[in-house]
Amino acid sequence: MRKIAVIGVGYVGLVTAAGFADLGNRVVGMDIDEEKIEKLRRGEMPIYEPGLEEMVCRNMKMGRLSFTTSYDEALDGAEFVFIAVGTPPGADGEADLRYVEAAARSIAEHMRHPLIIVNKSTVPVGTGDWVTQVVKQHQKEPIPFSVVSCPEFLREGNAIQDFMNPHRIVLGSTDPEAAEKVAQLHLPLRAPIIVTDLRTAEMIKYASNAFLATKISFINEIANICEAMGADVKEVAVGMGYDPRIGPHFLEAGLGFGGSCFPKDVQALAYAAEVMGRHPQLLRAVLDINQDRRRMAVERVKEMLGGSVAGHVVGLLGLSFKPNTDDMREAPSIDIARYLLDEGARVRAYDPIAMDNARRILPEVEYFPDPYSLAEGADALIVVTDWNEFKHLDLERIKNLMRRPVLYDGRNIYDPKTMFELGFIYRGVGRGYPAPENPEPPGLTMAKAGGL
Ligand code: UGA
Repeated sequence: MRKIAVIGVGYVGLVTAAGFADLGNRVVGMDIDEEKIEKLRRGEMPIYEPGLEEMVCRNMKMGRLSFTTSYDEALDGAEFVFIAVGTPPGADGEADLRYVEAAARSIAEHMRHPLIIVNKSTVPVGTGDWVTQVVKQHQKEPIPFSVVSCPEFLREGNAIQDFMNPHRIVLGSTDPEAAEKVAQLHLPLRAPIIVTDLRTAEMIKYASNAFLATKISFINEIANICEAMGADVKEVAVGMGYDPRIGPHFLEAGLGFGGSCFPKDVQALAYAAEVMGRHPQLLRAVLDINQDRRRMAVERVKEMLGGSVAGHVVGLLGLSFKPNTDDMREAPSIDIARYLLDEGARVRAYDPIAMDNARRILPEVEYFPDPYSLAEGADALIVVTDWNEFKHLDLERIKNLMRRPVLYDGRNIYDPKTMFELGFIYRGVGRGYPAPENPEPPGLTMAKAGGL
């Protein structure tokens, strides 16, 4: 049984701690937030994540997982210490490393025996080298240690599943022995293990998130063009996805990406590139396209309501940045609600679990207990988050409850034909536009655009 300390029991840290405990290790989760640790000791989760509570409680009962606010207790006898603290965005989009620095410093001050320090947080390229320096500077006496980068690839709402079934484990280190030991820890997960240097491992994480974000902005740009040309982006994505070089995943057009990772990581990478004198044009475009999605949703609803949302009641179906989470960080719903409010709309919303978090960010919005009460008397509804429960609504009932049956489907969860048949004034993203009755030869459209 190996002993592991995990510093920071936020999202990544808690899943990592529970996951390694479940694999049979002895894990201590450490956080400076006393309230959080108290809650965890009582078996209360600070975040919503399917399967997490059960896994944490089971491993606490088995004596493999415990929580503390004390570095001494966490590091006592530990062979590995994982850093999993937050790296929030700074004022210019750079990653704020103050928590990583504080963790490195405290580890240095409290270590009594050799340690392998494993960094899980998403940190700018070069942070591993810097952490090595910070630890060396703050050690009371020189005790050997190694720093290994082991970026996480967990998705919120799927984190336990992703921890137990990773597509790959990336390890970066200058110390092959330390990397080998961290690799051993991951062996039960039966995933390919890539061992490289620290900076390359850190970059793999950023490049992966930036690429996924690029896929989303790409398909959203195609969706805009589909709208103008009468094609259906959903089917375009299916047709593209069969090419194994493209793949079928992450090609869902909609209101763009949110959450605590993609927006922050793409920004941090672009910022770091600029600091180094590079011009990350593609990354900037990915972010711009993503921001435009939110404005675009409001523009479409305005069109559907005859030019203005002022005085109209607009209901948001879903608030969290994606389904199966109550996370509101960078959620498209925030900008959409604010744009609508700025333009004089009355905004109401329903979300299965994110309403408590949303109330703090959007106090001007009126909250409803279910989709039907939300629809009652509304002039328009916008599907903002693709929660499963929205896919199975009684749409006829929804339509009859609304003052005007305007529905903008920002996540393409409904079939346009069914919606038209039900009598909705419906629009999806990049689809659902019947071809014009007297079309011009398509060649002309391309030629006018300079395509021929
Ligand atoms: C993302 C990555 O998927 C994880 O691999 C990574 O570990 C994590 O960031 C991180 O860096 O910590 P997450 O932010 O939980 O995970 O969410 P995703 O499920 O990837 O979705 C991100 C956003 O993209 C959501 O707003 C979602 O609605 C949007 N999205 C996703 C689309 O708009 N279209 C798609 O086709 C897919």
